[in-house]
Amino acid sequence: MKFFVDTGDVQEIRDLAATGMVDGVTTNPSLIAKTGRNFIEVVEEICGIVEGPVSAEVAATEHDQMLAEGRRLAKIAPNVCVKVPLTWNGLKVCRKLADEGTKVNVTLCFSPGQALLAGKAGATFVSPFVGRLDDIAHEGMDLIADIVTIFANYPAIETEILVASARSTLHVVQAARLGAHVATLPPKVLHQLAMHPLTDKGLDAFVADWKKTGQSIL
Ligand code: G3P
Repeated sequence: MKFFVDTGDVQEIRDLAATGMVDGVTTNPSLIAKTGRNFIEVVEEICGIVEGPVSAEVAATEHDQMLAEGRRLAKIAPNVCVKVPLTWNGLKVCRKLADEGTKVNVTLCFSPGQALLAGKAGATFVSPFVGRLDDIAHEGMDLIADIVTIFANYPAIETEILVASARSTLHVVQAARLGAHVATLPPKVLHQLAMHPLTDKGLDAFVADWKKTGQSIL
């Protein structure tokens, strides 16, 4: 499973990229607004930190403006993946950008039907939002299961399922069990993946017992 970091915070990205576990980055207008920084500059900086796909979302909702913004964002760096919302304008722009060789991440996906359209539009990634479905008492992971099953029926669909709005390590494990290609994670969730109290307890015991030997390896 590929892990993307879902943030505009370049220091968080730098720290996590140093672990070798980061395969890409996703941003969105809300995450960029949180940085208080210039959007283009943030994306440029992130593209210099992470080699993998860096999703940068258009702000427009009308077709021509969306296409122009997408083309502008694609010019920032070779690893920019233009993010468009799952609307008819977004799908049309996705098709055009994909035909121009630009990677596209179709976002704000909340149904299997929408995901099918993203696949037909040539999206590189489709981003179903799990957490926001959970927030309204729908089983967000059921959407991932549906999309995985549907896409498996059509090998011609090369779109990767990018699980977004992931709120916990459980979301990551459940998505991995289902075979989703990518999970984009808030830095906190990615950090939590490595944590376990029994690991800490066991390591403390190893360190204490090793100290008793009075030995050193080097
Ligand atoms: O990439 C989409 C993600 O940022 C949305 O997460 O927690 O705002 O639903 P959330």
